[in-house]
Amino acid sequence: MSIFNIFWVINIISLQVFLANSYCTKSLVPALYVFGDSTVDAGNNNNLNTNAKVNTFPYGIDFNNVSTGRFSNGKTFADIIAIKLGLPMPPPYLGVSTTERYQIASGINYASGSCGILNSTRNGECLSLDQQIEYFTSTVINDLPRNFRSKTKLRHYLSKSIFLLSIGANDYMLNYLKQEIITNKSGNPEEFADYLLDQLSSSIKKIYELGGRKFVVIGVGPIGCIPGFIIRKPNFQDCNEDVNQKVKPFTNKLPMKIQVLKSQLSGSLFTIMDTFEFFKEIRNSPEKFGFTNTWDSCVGEGGKPCENRRQYYFYDSAHSTEATSEIYANKCFSGTHLCFPLNIEQLAHTH
Ligand SMILES: *[C@@H]1O[C@H](CO)[C@@H](O)[C@H](O)[C@H]1NC(C)=O
Ligand SMILES: *[C@@H]1O[C@H](CO)[C@@H](O)[C@H](O)[C@H]1NC(C)=O
Ligand SMILES: *[C@@H]1O[C@H](CO)[C@@H](O)[C@H](O)[C@H]1NC(C)=O
Repeated sequence: MSIFNIFWVINIISLQVFLANSYCTKSLVPALYVFGDSTVDAGNNNNLNTNAKVNTFPYGIDFNNVSTGRFSNGKTFADIIAIKLGLPMPPPYLGVSTTERYQIASGINYASGSCGILNSTRNGECLSLDQQIEYFTSTVINDLPRNFRSKTKLRHYLSKSIFLLSIGANDYMLNYLKQEIITNKSGNPEEFADYLLDQLSSSIKKIYELGGRKFVVIGVGPIGCIPGFIIRKPNFQDCNEDVNQKVKPFTNKLPMKIQVLKSQLSGSLFTIMDTFEFFKEIRNSPEKFGFTNTWDSCVGEGGKPCENRRQYYFYDSAHSTEATSEIYANKCFSGTHLCFPLNIEQLAHTH
């Protein structure tokens, strides 16, 4: 290689380092990495053989009317958190070509609709949490080192970045709740929650071992209250409390499980989001949050979306509108109670 070429190679490398570092100065953290299911999928499922794919109208109607594969009319919770952190919305891993992945130093989204914590949770092709972490491992080993001059710098970057996990609902909807009807082989709800939380913990440990320190863990919400599960009678509608009671142990046990994890993983920091109480608060006084409808899907018969999308809690029978995600993101980012023991802003600033 001629001196001239070496000069350019060095120049390109330092330019990349500059680009990678310049995010740090504008943003609160260097990167946001996202793991999860359809609540935060930004388009991974577009590239998979599955029916759980929403790259068609009316999804994305408020995302410049582009159906990106987000299960919403607009941005997801993870997208909004990225923006609040001063970062670009993390692109879907499978939406970026193999040769371009290394250029993304501000975070990647590995989330995949219809998958869960367990490998056995799926409905068609999707990325299980294990698969998502395998892809992240490849990011850390093959892609990111090209942006950093030393292992120390990469380690520092990873330790400052935020890792958001929003997963577990499908382990109930597509797995436990169905299995229970058929076989009851996963034990009672307490036992199943313990099993899921053990698996989730070992996944978080893998991210920690790769360098992650700051985690946001979203609990499983009141599934019995989504339009697909509520009980509708002619003059009456209510959450399916039987379903909620089966799901609740996961969220109840999550803080204790995280506490144990925190004590095992030195230097780790956690933000937990428990949506059960806050959901109740919204449903009890929807007008306080700008909603006129917290029961029905905005998208009606024939796939026609409602006009007043900011007044609807749900966009389809299982997913929230952008308006809903904004409310949760605002409160989790800088509020109290919904996210604890640190809100995301505090998580970003704590060393
Ligand atoms: C949004 O896109 C759909 C499908 O491509 C199209 O039918 C519709 O007219 C578009 N709406 C707006 C407001 O551009
Ligand atoms: C999922 O499968 C992988 C390999 O295919 C295995 O290593 C892992 O332990 C499995 N995880 C769960 C939660 O079953
Ligand atoms: C499932 O198992 C639990 C105990 O683990 C039992 O209480 C319950 O009745 C069983 N349900 C069915 C549908 O067999």
